[in-house]
Amino acid sequence: MRKKVVAGNWKMNKNLNEAIQLVSELKNELSNFEPNCEVIVCPPFTNLESVNTIIKDSKIHLGAQNMYFEDSGAFTGEISADMLLSVGVEYVIVGHSERRAIFKETDEVINLKLKQAFKKDLKPILCVGETLEQRESGEMKSVIKSQVTGALKEIPASDISKMILAYEPVWAIGTGKTATPEQAQEVHKFIRELISELYDETTAENLTIQYGGSVKPANAASLLSQPDIDGALVGGACLQAQSFVEIIKSA
Ligand code: PGA
Repeated sequence: MRKKVVAGNWKMNKNLNEAIQLVSELKNELSNFEPNCEVIVCPPFTNLESVNTIIKDSKIHLGAQNMYFEDSGAFTGEISADMLLSVGVEYVIVGHSERRAIFKETDEVINLKLKQAFKKDLKPILCVGETLEQRESGEMKSVIKSQVTGALKEIPASDISKMILAYEPVWAIGTGKTATPEQAQEVHKFIRELISELYDETTAENLTIQYGGSVKPANAASLLSQPDIDGALVGGACLQAQSFVEIIKSA
């Protein structure tokens, strides 16, 4: 059985006080039931250490939203894997569509970041997804294929078992437009088949593939009931403990 994972990507939201309040509420809510999935929060860098202190004795795991691929040095404004590890980070989001679109991250850079994460024993959450234009022009599968193969270049199967993949159609992120469960399932299945071709069937079967893009309490259950959807990467709806908890319960 594959692990179900629900992760919250806070993006550039919540100052320190707000972060402490949100994660404390979340921890409190989660102490009332046994979630059927792994729960990850990915706050901004400035909140990682404080959030880590709060979640230490809880079921919540800590993730970061990005990192740089070099060990250390003259890279002003960047954060290294060691820095993340030193504040208790276990997961790192790599290749989010906002990083690709706004900060011009290429598949090559994403590949270097993944290699660095594996080298340092951080577990990456690799994001892939097509734009509306690409979907409408029939390029969806070729775009996903080149993102997946580009990101995973020279990465062995033994590392794939440590990572999570997230399918996030760009047109569904922060737009309120969710892929239908059937649309999402089609792409998840395609990605799993691709992993099977690139690696082997066991690696593909064991890989957790999350869906992301306007996941809300109202649509989470139908998305998560699809056979190849193994969890959710949640943006907007994770900024309130109550709605994030409802999504966790849907899993
Ligand atoms: P959203 O963001 O849930 O606000 O659409 C998802 C994401 O970007 O990970």
